[in-house]
Amino acid sequence: MLEVQSLAKRYGDTTVFRDVSLAVAPGEFVAIVGESGVGKSTLLNCMAGLDSWDAGRVLVDGQDLSTLDDEARAILRRRKLGFVFQAFHVLPHLDVAQNVGLPLLLLQRPDARRVEAMLAAVGLEGLGGRLPQELSGGQLQRVAIARALVHAPRLLLADEPTGNLDPATATRVLDVLRAQARESGAALVLVTHSEAAAGRADRVLHLRSDGIA
Ligand SMILES: Nc1ncnc2c1ncn2[C@@H]1O[C@H](COP(=O)(O)OP(=O)(O)OP(=O)(O)O)[C@@H](O)[C@H]1O
Ligand SMILES: [Mg+2]
Repeated sequence: MLEVQSLAKRYGDTTVFRDVSLAVAPGEFVAIVGESGVGKSTLLNCMAGLDSWDAGRVLVDGQDLSTLDDEARAILRRRKLGFVFQAFHVLPHLDVAQNVGLPLLLLQRPDARRVEAMLAAVGLEGLGGRLPQELSGGQLQRVAIARALVHAPRLLLADEPTGNLDPATATRVLDVLRAQARESGAALVLVTHSEAAAGRADRVLHLRSDGIA
């Protein structure tokens, strides 16, 4: 489902990482760990075609992202990808249900019941009418997770998705992520500092500046 081949990322003369290769199969859950600043968010953004790289290739469902222009990448993301951003990126002027339902709307498949079910799955039942500013950080994080899952994407990329949650809620939300991924045969890549979260993965990879293993 996802293949990264010898990927390298630099800013000017500074190498963030190089020689990063990995493959994630449909239904597989891979956790990526590594110290702060090593490039985990950057790598995830490259996997989503949201950032550029300096060498190597990224293939999503067999499609080489470097052969796609911005519009084609956006269409591929819309159809196949769910992304939980480290900084949430919830839209402030849309209410919670509209935020979660946005991927379905963009696919012209609006489905209020699916939105409600996803909100309930992450423990936000009844909060669909609230604006993001009326939510706590942990609640916002769960809105971002529900939004990433709502259209049952084939590839799920989650950047520290439980960073703002208490241990019990984190466990619950991880279970939801894992179960939804399994159910739809999605490949799940999760970046985390949490050993508990990494412990739930099928495989744990350690990112360093000179590769991943
Ligand atoms: N525009 C930029 N110019 C130069 N360096 C940058 C730029 N953006 C990011 N970096 C550097 O790239 C490196 C990787 O950043 P990234 O956000 O991917 O780290 P991370 O592993 O996700 O860290 P954290 O665990 O703290 O979230 C960092 O050292 C950062 O300082
Ligand atoms: Mg990061």
